[in-house]
Amino acid sequence: MKPEIDQQVIQPSKGLAGRARIPGDKSVAHRCALFAALGEGESRIVHFPDAADPQSTLACVRALGTEVTRDDDGILVVQGRGLRGWGAPSTDLDCGNSGTTMRLLAGLLAGQPFPATMVGDESLSSRPMGRIADPLTMMGARISMTDGHAPMTVEGGELSGIEYRLPVASAQVKSAVLLAGLYASGETTVIESRPSRDHTERMLGLDILELGSERHISVRSGHTIPARTWAVPGDFSAAAFFLVAATVVPGSLLKLHGIGMNRSRTGLLEVLRAMGANIKVTNERVLGGEPIADLTVKSAPLNGVTIGGGIIPNLIDEIPILAVAAAAAEGKTVIRDAAELRVKETDRIDAMCAGLKAMGAHVTQQPDGLTIRGPAKLRGATVEARHDHRIAMALAVAGLTAQGPTTISGSSAAAISFPGFWDELRSVSWS
Ligand code: S3P
Repeated sequence: MKPEIDQQVIQPSKGLAGRARIPGDKSVAHRCALFAALGEGESRIVHFPDAADPQSTLACVRALGTEVTRDDDGILVVQGRGLRGWGAPSTDLDCGNSGTTMRLLAGLLAGQPFPATMVGDESLSSRPMGRIADPLTMMGARISMTDGHAPMTVEGGELSGIEYRLPVASAQVKSAVLLAGLYASGETTVIESRPSRDHTERMLGLDILELGSERHISVRSGHTIPARTWAVPGDFSAAAFFLVAATVVPGSLLKLHGIGMNRSRTGLLEVLRAMGANIKVTNERVLGGEPIADLTVKSAPLNGVTIGGGIIPNLIDEIPILAVAAAAAEGKTVIRDAAELRVKETDRIDAMCAGLKAMGAHVTQQPDGLTIRGPAKLRGATVEARHDHRIAMALAVAGLTAQGPTTISGSSAAAISFPGFWDELRSVSWS
């Protein structure tokens, strides 16, 4: 049998039109799976995505003893057994490529009366885990790893609440500590000076105190999770590829429906608008506690922009696609304070710099970001996704604006957050 070639060829686009279908939000989906599994009885999850990362979380909760089925309408039905209903898994918990699975689950495993080992793929096994092991150890968990990396064995037990000031703006670290706090005596408080995505505290209904630009988020022992129907909004981070594509390809008019508009996630919208993008937000409503809306995007000329500081955590996952917008924009774009990108699924600063450069963009990298001078006349090239879903999709959008075909090598990575991406892109773009 011939081995399948893991690549996609993107043709220059003459415009994007119609409606792009966007999968359910990866961040919210992870949390739905965990909170339904630990809920007090049967919960249902509407629009749970098929993407590989949330499916890794689902596989882990099953391995811990949670029964999950799918009804005839595709809704997940989860038999929650309460916070203390999990049992020791008979195998290692496979988190695949998913940092959110491993870090949030570590917080929950810290409170279990049995040890469990989490493993991940090559990328996940090279990502820093000391950032969660440190606070969880302070709370009383015993965690073993190799050089701060997975595989990670968590031996839970009696935990005590702590007050923890986040050393990095990270919703995964924040969530790991707060989830361990569900099992700890007394109160657990996480203080963040650069607010990151707030899904955990919002979905669990935790106490939040805002002191200036700081947020203090607290959970007290005895907090339980009621059974309920959860709903997963469209993923703003997945929509971002289409927002930029329709902005930078002249002659485009594209609609996206039911997209999550949580302000801790939509920094890219603010930045694109400041650059000159034409994106209309209509039909704003609330779905399962999260704001959602429909978006209409028309192509528009862009100007360069300088960003850094507090907005970075609110668009951290969108910086690869923002770099593509910057390459099409008139003038200089500077992205600072984004060193966290170097420890994502791959080093996203280096990967975008290399990919865009290969296509003829004027890009330089700094330790904490990128400088891009546009507009560049991109030319098709063979570029490497480095097994990173967001790099694969961002470079595909760059390919729409290039002269000649662009080959994305390692394109299957898109399925980590957006399984139908390649078909969806082709269905709304004409060449
Ligand atoms: C996520 C938090 C972010 C983000 C990741 C999902 C989450 O990571 O990059 O894709 O769901 O909590 P960090 O918390 O490490 O910044």
